[in-house]
Amino acid sequence: MNSLQGKTVLITGGTDGIGRSLVLQYLKLGANVVTCGRAQHKIHALEAEAPIGKLCVLNLDVAVERDCERLVNHAVQQFGGIDVLINNAGISMRGLMNEGGKEIIGVIKRVMDVNFYGSVYCTTYALPHLIKSKGVIVGVSSIAGYRGLPGRSGYSASKFALQGWLEAIKTELVEKGVHVMWVSPGFTASNIRNVALNHKGVAHGESPLDEKSLMDADTCAGIIIEAVDDRKRTVVMTFQGKQTVFLNKFFPKLADKLVRKFFFRDGELVK
Ligand SMILES: NC(=O)c1ccc[n+]([C@@H]2O[C@H](COP(=O)([O-])OP(=O)(O)OC[C@H]3O[C@@H](n4cnc5c(N)ncnc54)[C@H](OP(=O)(O)O)[C@@H]3O)[C@@H](O)[C@H]2O)c1
Repeated sequence: MNSLQGKTVLITGGTDGIGRSLVLQYLKLGANVVTCGRAQHKIHALEAEAPIGKLCVLNLDVAVERDCERLVNHAVQQFGGIDVLINNAGISMRGLMNEGGKEIIGVIKRVMDVNFYGSVYCTTYALPHLIKSKGVIVGVSSIAGYRGLPGRSGYSASKFALQGWLEAIKTELVEKGVHVMWVSPGFTASNIRNVALNHKGVAHGESPLDEKSLMDADTCAGIIIEAVDDRKRTVVMTFQGKQTVFLNKFFPKLADKLVRKFFFRDGELVK
């Protein structure tokens, strides 16, 4: 692992789940970290765990362009530059297109605003600083960025969009020395399914998965940090995730059947 002393890592959505693990692991490795979230109690809890002077946490919404500008400016004012940007903040949804009527449009827009446009805003404002540092831009994508998942149509769209956009700017930025990559966790224990929006835009308040059986957020964050250090192109995590990406690429009809079987019981979305 290359030394992170004096380096600055900007991680969106670092107050919970995978982002929080990234923040704490990067701090342990000696980096300065700037992050954000919206829930104040989570911000206080994270600040309480950090060494003095190494962490800044801002209360803001990445779906708001000016908030992202403020986040980037704060990182530069506080620590003098940005070496790594991890676009991690994300929300999910669980709702079928044929249920709940037109309200699902607003849900899909909100998911796109946070997951896709939030990444576009932060990357745009951070880009001059990343060019200066010859830094790294990371997108935290998902297996849903390779294979559309039922009930998560807006989420899948946001991750496909994220990956396509990152792939495009990767080739644009080659000669600037900026490395662009994305990582795709499989199912990872976190709060994301509890707060996933239903077709009315309200948090489900429960997870349809056995969270204890999933990859833990610390393991996921460790894999991301190593991949950033190695300047990998992409990482697909978990055996199930790798299998899904492989089957969908080479045997898409079989993948359709297996995905349907995994998510539905007797015609009902159960996961
Ligand atoms: N967990 C999984 O199974 C899984 C699998 C594949 C990919 N991912 C991806 O991994 C990333 C992290 O997800 P996670 O599972 O760690 O979720 P999580 O536990 O729900 O944490 C999400 C973090 O993002 C923050 N956040 C959410 N919306 C935000 C907004 N609009 N503005 C600023 N901060 C915001 C949350 O804080 P506040 O709510 O307080 O704002 C929290 O700190 C996401 O991009 C997700 O799509 C997760």
